[in-house]
Amino acid sequence: MGKLSNKVAVVTGASKGIGAGIAERLAADGAKVVVNYSRSVAEAEALVAKIKAAGGEAVAVRADIADPAQIQALFDKTLDAFGTVDILVNNAGLYIFGGLDSATPELIDKHYNLNVKGLILATQAAARVFPKEGGVVVNISSGVAKTPMVQAQVYSSTKGAVDVLTRGLAVELGPRNIRVVGIAPGLTSTEGTSGMDQPTKDQFIGRTPLGRLGVPADIAAAVAFVASEDGAWITGETLQVGGGLTL
Ligand SMILES: NC(=O)c1ccc[n+]([C@@H]2O[C@H](COP(=O)([O-])OP(=O)(O)OC[C@H]3O[C@@H](n4cnc5c(N)ncnc54)[C@H](OP(=O)(O)O)[C@@H]3O)[C@@H](O)[C@H]2O)c1
Repeated sequence: MGKLSNKVAVVTGASKGIGAGIAERLAADGAKVVVNYSRSVAEAEALVAKIKAAGGEAVAVRADIADPAQIQALFDKTLDAFGTVDILVNNAGLYIFGGLDSATPELIDKHYNLNVKGLILATQAAARVFPKEGGVVVNISSGVAKTPMVQAQVYSSTKGAVDVLTRGLAVELGPRNIRVVGIAPGLTSTEGTSGMDQPTKDQFIGRTPLGRLGVPADIAAAVAFVASEDGAWITGETLQVGGGLTL
């Protein structure tokens, strides 16, 4: 029996990167997992096959989290597949680097539509269908909400909003035994960060006491902990998971 046996988890943006690592780990811990994606169908299906080959249960569901209509459909399909939802991991997020001058209205909307509006509406949809015993929402934040990154002003502000939502929603949903916990990765090797140049990566490594970049499994281990009963007394907090990068 894994720590998440009999639980159903929805992981948004799980076809790649940190989300894929989280989906794989939650499945290994016994959860039935919905691998959400918006474009990368081949990667999502390959991850589902990998989870099944390891003895787990998963389905891939396409839904653009930046589109409110598709969020409801994601939860309808989850209920069709597994009958309930116990855990939501709000991982889908985008980051386009640039300082203040690069912040066009379109770029701001793109970030907020997914990283903030999508997270709020996915949490709302999950809270409407969580069982009466409760549930867990894990919000993937970022160390940039704590330590400013000049070349990521718009992105950083979305993660600041995520941290405020983690605290506020924990207060609102706590009486229903719904916990809301943030996990803030440091720089993590993913498809999304693969284009970052090595000197920039080296700067991050130099600022990281544990002396390396994160990998999705590092982040997934923290998510699995807070989503399980071992995290039952944790809510409203955002845990930095970055090898000490934000110290
Ligand atoms: N990597 C880091 O260093 C780092 C550090 C701190 C925080 N984070 C946060 O961690 C999360 C994941 O980052 P990552 O680096 O793993 O990203 P990534 O490698 O770029 O992967 C992004 C994932 O999100 C999905 N996605 C993108 N837009 C979506 C949408 N509109 N609806 C549904 N899914 C969507 C992608 O699927 P499709 O290809 O199918 O669209 C993909 O599976 C983000 O919230 C990010 O802000 C990352």
